[in-house]
Amino acid sequence: MDSPGAHRAGQWEAVGMATLIIVGAQWGDEGKGKVTDVLAERADVIVRYQGGNNAGHTVVVGERTYKLHLIPSGIFYPGKACLIGNGVVIDPSVLVSELDYLHGFGVNTDALRISYGAHLIMPYHIRLDQVEEARKGANKIGTTLRGIGPAYMDKFARVGLRVADLIDEDGFSDKLRRILDEKNNLLVKAYGAEPLDYASIRDAYLGYAERLRPLVADTSLLIHQALAAGKNILFEGAQGTLLDIDFGTYPFVTSSHPIAGGACVGAGIGPTAIDRVLGVVKAYTSRVGEGPFPTELRDATGDWIRERGGEFGTTTGRPRRIGWLDAAIVRFSARVSGLTGLAVTKLDTLAGLPRVKMCVGYRRGGVISPEFPPTLDMLRECEPIYEEFAGWDSDLGRVRTYEDLPRNIRRYLDRLEQVVGVPVTMVSLGQERRQTIIREDPFAPIA
Ligand code: IMP
Repeated sequence: MDSPGAHRAGQWEAVGMATLIIVGAQWGDEGKGKVTDVLAERADVIVRYQGGNNAGHTVVVGERTYKLHLIPSGIFYPGKACLIGNGVVIDPSVLVSELDYLHGFGVNTDALRISYGAHLIMPYHIRLDQVEEARKGANKIGTTLRGIGPAYMDKFARVGLRVADLIDEDGFSDKLRRILDEKNNLLVKAYGAEPLDYASIRDAYLGYAERLRPLVADTSLLIHQALAAGKNILFEGAQGTLLDIDFGTYPFVTSSHPIAGGACVGAGIGPTAIDRVLGVVKAYTSRVGEGPFPTELRDATGDWIRERGGEFGTTTGRPRRIGWLDAAIVRFSARVSGLTGLAVTKLDTLAGLPRVKMCVGYRRGGVISPEFPPTLDMLRECEPIYEEFAGWDSDLGRVRTYEDLPRNIRRYLDRLEQVVGVPVTMVSLGQERRQTIIREDPFAPIA
């Protein structure tokens, strides 16, 4: 790796164009918002490609902490194009409130564009998410209840409404009437729930259409034009690998593709256009919602990390489940997303613990393997194999380069690199932009 520690946020030279996908390498909440915000400084275009307002990205700019659910974190840099791709499901009420929220702080959102092809989250999706979860009882997924799953279900059942439909007033009203009749039938007859009112949904959505119409664009074409013009493009993933609908801990997953491949279908670019994939890894593990979690800590250490790390859902406020870093999971993410670098976050949260543990593989039926198993039943039989590391103290405030990191952090990161087989190219030591070490410029041209 070239001159480790050479780059720090805010001190880069523009040296060429590249495309970069940022993905969560665990169960989401790895700190992608901060990593995206720091790297967006060097990007010209920032694109969201999947998920919806189930995501919650926390970004600290100066004295202020912002929480975003839909709008790409790059919005805080004036003039950078921020795109919401076709793979995202948009609740227009949330998007309009988020625009108002940002305007309230004087943030300019003129450079935001949303895809014609993005599907809409409708009130019946939210209602269906609620009644489905309630019906599952003890087997519930623990969704964010934002209508994400039902919206993607309609997309794949080919009965969804898209942004293109929203901005066509007459067409939207007709389609909504037809679809709502069916959804009300389902709500009333299958779930014994109240039906939803057509006129109030139509009026609210046509109001959102007025606000959003100027932002609607062919975002795939915009990306293509930016590529042709030699711009830096950053694709901002939401959630994480283990919540991927195919590769996650199914059925305790979300309904989209947070893995890197999701950026291609969710933004409308070919895989040959991708240069690098950065996996964001929290120094420990967390997850919200149900499902197996091999390294979970149900003890005082877990509580301590939760409190110190502020591990409560950005979207739902739920306390997150906490566990030791599981490097086998990150290794799996490296495989399915083709990671080229790791961004390790929240090492500062663990500071003060006398010892920390890292899971480097599993024991299952007497066999030891570093590979994450392909089914939930196999995962339930896995016993984590831990290695213990001496901890580090809490004064990381003056650390400016990789070499300055406490020796025990270096040992921890060296071992992570070894198990995963991917270099640590970025380290985050706090919420602020300046508390970041960048070892390798992710937008440097590929040799
Ligand atoms: P849904 O995406 O609301 O359908 O929720 C499905 C699962 O994904 C649940 O376990 C949620 O807690 C989890 N999930 C969805 N979005 C996020 C996120 O942004 N961070 C962490 N977990 C998430």
